[in-house]
Amino acid sequence: MSLGGSVKIFLDTANLREIEEAASWGVLSGVTTNPSLMAREEGADFQETIQAITRLVDGPISAETVSEDADGMVKEGKTYAAWHPNVIVKVPATLEGLKAVARLKDEGIRTNVTLCFNANQALLAARAGAFVVSPFVGRLDDISESGIELIQEIADVFAMDREIETQILAASIRHPRHILEVAKAGADIATCPFKVLVQSMKHPLTDKGIDMFLDDWRRREAVQVASAGTS
Ligand code: G3P
Repeated sequence: MSLGGSVKIFLDTANLREIEEAASWGVLSGVTTNPSLMAREEGADFQETIQAITRLVDGPISAETVSEDADGMVKEGKTYAAWHPNVIVKVPATLEGLKAVARLKDEGIRTNVTLCFNANQALLAARAGAFVVSPFVGRLDDISESGIELIQEIADVFAMDREIETQILAASIRHPRHILEVAKAGADIATCPFKVLVQSMKHPLTDKGIDMFLDDWRRREAVQVASAGTS
């Protein structure tokens, strides 16, 4: 059940340098990957990449299946889950995906139901036993629907149902404001591209303030050196 207001930060990438850097900031609770993100890492082996991520971040690491039928998803899911206990098997929000969720849950394997664009998909995924559901905020905004309203609706529906333990993982985060909006709407997790986390810590007044403090400090030191020379 989502209680809201306590959002965890995941990184949405398969790039090991980005993961290592973001992990060093002390804010990462997990990582999500998908076939498109893997395709950006030319020449990288999927299993090696996922296992390398598990060594960098101690939290849920999503690895996505590419089969279109439940049998294939379950087979892939069992393979991925054997790589490391933190691996979460990503399946699409389809009827075949639901079957795979239920079967993988029976095997003790956690799932992330991805490509979720309405609250019914999220509700059925939760009923089937998904560990997390991934509503895609930015892609809904792209077609003039509200990704944030979807997070809110799922959070409301999950909060009314004591049996649901499925977490809401807000995906397709496009800018820093999205992180705060999904947190306020009740998401448990926001999975963010590296550049959005970098942007999140940027403010011109922070940079300007650092410059002013350093200038004042140097001026103070120069005055001290000058007065030591005259005494
Ligand atoms: O990992 C799934 C999701 O976060 C993808 O985001 O930017 O491709 O819509 P995007």
